[in-house]
Amino acid sequence: MERILIIGASGQIGSELTLELRSIYGNENVYATDVKEAPPDIKESGPFQLLDVMDDKHLIHFVIRNKITQIYHLAAVLSGNAEKLPTQAWHINMNSLMNILEIARLVEEIKRVFWPSSIAVFGKTTPRNNSPQLSVMEPSTVYGISKLAGERWCEYYSHRYNIDIRSLRYPGLISFKTEPGGGTTDWAVEIYYDAVNKGKYTCFIESSRAMPMLFMHDAIQATVKLMETDRSKLTCQTSYNITGLSISPGQVADDIRRYIPGFRIDYKPDFRNSIAESWPQSIDDSIVRTDIDWEPSFDLKKITDVMVKEVTKKKSVIGN
Ligand code: SER
Repeated sequence: MERILIIGASGQIGSELTLELRSIYGNENVYATDVKEAPPDIKESGPFQLLDVMDDKHLIHFVIRNKITQIYHLAAVLSGNAEKLPTQAWHINMNSLMNILEIARLVEEIKRVFWPSSIAVFGKTTPRNNSPQLSVMEPSTVYGISKLAGERWCEYYSHRYNIDIRSLRYPGLISFKTEPGGGTTDWAVEIYYDAVNKGKYTCFIESSRAMPMLFMHDAIQATVKLMETDRSKLTCQTSYNITGLSISPGQVADDIRRYIPGFRIDYKPDFRNSIAESWPQSIDDSIVRTDIDWEPSFDLKKITDVMVKEVTKKKSVIGN
């Protein structure tokens, strides 16, 4: 029987992945934790506790006391925020991962760990189109450097201590339940909220700058599949490239106009546009698709259909 610990359960990925894992492994077997309060459905459907991943002593006690067998470590300072406080972001992103790796090494019951990497591991010297799984990796952001170092540490622990650590290099994730915070790809969520709520959006990324994205439903399915696939089938020892589609703000704005014809977008590129410039525009994820037998099901039209509908629903609830 699996007993799963989620770190970062109140965040953009955690608030959805927790519910999916509870539906598979049983509500009582999925322990949601975060430094901030969780949405009501997380707190009501199973165990939730405030827990700081930086506090290694509490963390290891929690893991032993609850007989945890799998850990999903989702907490991180994203790319935009990390540039504002570089050393603090490095400290949080690296030390939280090291705490998890050490616990996985020390606690025999831990069978598997999931830790997300990012397209931010790539830099300006990587081919920008269809960036391959194996390529030059010279990230120029603190976030990217921490993710690349994290990938190396995961591989080190996996080889040296035979720990089963699995990872995906997520692109921008588009979702409606919990908004992301402090990322360079956040525009792809903000644009829908502002379109529905204000009819206009000021975008911090240039109109034609395409970026790799993935709808949350597809990201969750891929994550669960990766964790359930037999280890012998996984050919990538570090972190898999993964993507759903490549889209620019201009393209998303045009698609939103199917619903909101008067939608206005203007552009005020800031430092995050330079970050985006250093990242790939599209990703080759053929290896993960084969290894875990997965493919994305949401294209731009389907994403817009769901985002406009769900954000409109939220607006009417708040409006009432
Ligand atoms: N969504 C992340 C960011 O923008 C990329 O992995 O920082």
